[in-house]
Amino acid sequence: MGRLLIVSNRLPVTVLQKKGGYRFFPSIGGLATGLKSLQRSWESLWIGWPGEIQDEEARAELRARLLTEFNCHPVFLSPADVEKYYGGFSNRTIWPLFHYFPVYTVYDESYWEAYERVNRLFCREILRVARPDDTIWVHDYHLMLLPKMLREKLPDAAIGFFLHIPFPSFELFRLLPWRRDILEGLLGADLVGFHTYDYARHFLSSVLHILGYDHKLGEIITREHAAKVDSFPMGIDYERFSGATALPAVRREIRLLRQQLGDTKVVLSIDRLDYTKGIPQRLEAFSLFLKKYPEWRGKVTLLLVTAPSRVSLDQYRLLRRQVDELVGRINGEYGSVGWTPIRYLNRTLTFHPLAAMYAVADVALVTPLRDGMNLIAKEYIATRRDGKGVLIISEMAGAASELGEALVINPNNKAEVAEALHLALQMPEEEQVARNRVMQERLKRWNVACWAEKFMEKLAEVKERQEAFLVK
Ligand code: G6P
Repeated sequence: MGRLLIVSNRLPVTVLQKKGGYRFFPSIGGLATGLKSLQRSWESLWIGWPGEIQDEEARAELRARLLTEFNCHPVFLSPADVEKYYGGFSNRTIWPLFHYFPVYTVYDESYWEAYERVNRLFCREILRVARPDDTIWVHDYHLMLLPKMLREKLPDAAIGFFLHIPFPSFELFRLLPWRRDILEGLLGADLVGFHTYDYARHFLSSVLHILGYDHKLGEIITREHAAKVDSFPMGIDYERFSGATALPAVRREIRLLRQQLGDTKVVLSIDRLDYTKGIPQRLEAFSLFLKKYPEWRGKVTLLLVTAPSRVSLDQYRLLRRQVDELVGRINGEYGSVGWTPIRYLNRTLTFHPLAAMYAVADVALVTPLRDGMNLIAKEYIATRRDGKGVLIISEMAGAASELGEALVINPNNKAEVAEALHLALQMPEEEQVARNRVMQERLKRWNVACWAEKFMEKLAEVKERQEAFLVK
């Protein structure tokens, strides 16, 4: 059996320069935990960017350490590539466009050139390490040209691609000047996976309108190659979260939180600080809730946690200021000497405090304007071993299609969110438990190991079919 080469922009470990030396930190995102289970059953190697390291000597030393200690093969990027490929095409072009923010989308030829250049660099690095029977699984929007580049060099390789963000409707996707290249790039894979059926449908529709290829049950046959398109909703490491409240370290954190929050009800909001998450809209809705239902004042606390992200980009810095201001305004307007409506933490949480927050939250308020999946919602439900707690989730999150027992809202409808908060805070415990148990069963079954296995099984099946077809 060959190895599994996992390829993503970011490695599961990020290297940071600290006090004269280098330190390794787990990267944010569900991908690293998601693929851990596969790393148990496959011999694997992860290829990606370890963060900004420019010193040549340090690079050589890190290359060796990343390989021996973490099974990672680093792809180092120059400052210009970080700016134009990562900050530019990936996060100023694709990210906003695919999340339905066309007005934030920048179309810049130099960003595109850098995107192509870095995809080619990844291709070269993969070719340095790939063996003929390796399976290659490419992840996410930073590397959409890579499947085709790899296919040209390794015509028989099994290549999978998974997109972790939404694929937008054709009407949005068509705006992209490089739309053909992106579609052709993706179709170099044998299997192209999305979180939801709708994203897959949007992709197929773009392929038909732009490249003129129709599909049969998700299979697209181009002049060069056949690719299968399917949906694989990503799950979580269910046991890790459902077992969290039994850990002494988490219990300690829970006691501390309860002491600090007093006897108020807790509404929890956790995200990367990203404009797609709808944080200002969520705060406005909370403010409306306090206005419409004054009886809750002094009795509810919104615990707002935002993890700093992509801080070199203007939109993200602007959002930080906007959130800072809104929190100040709402606390000033509704707070009293003894009660602060919003407790605000701008930092990345480690597992124990995160699980403790899930455990003490009466309500989780997950209201992105657009989100590929959203694992926070799933983690919250999994952590609640007692079955209590109410999830309010945006219908614009991929996760909503699997969490229909939650309170599903439109994040732009502030009155609806305020109403859902009122309802959630009064929901009888038996109803909370009844709703959550159904979701827990589902999340337990469709966990992240299952997601990865299903993708790999399908990839093997597609490959076998192709080979049988060639032999005939
Ligand atoms: C999203 C993307 C990931 C990305 C993560 C963190 O979840 O789908 O590919 O790694 O955000 O963003 P960053 O820009 O810090 O890698």
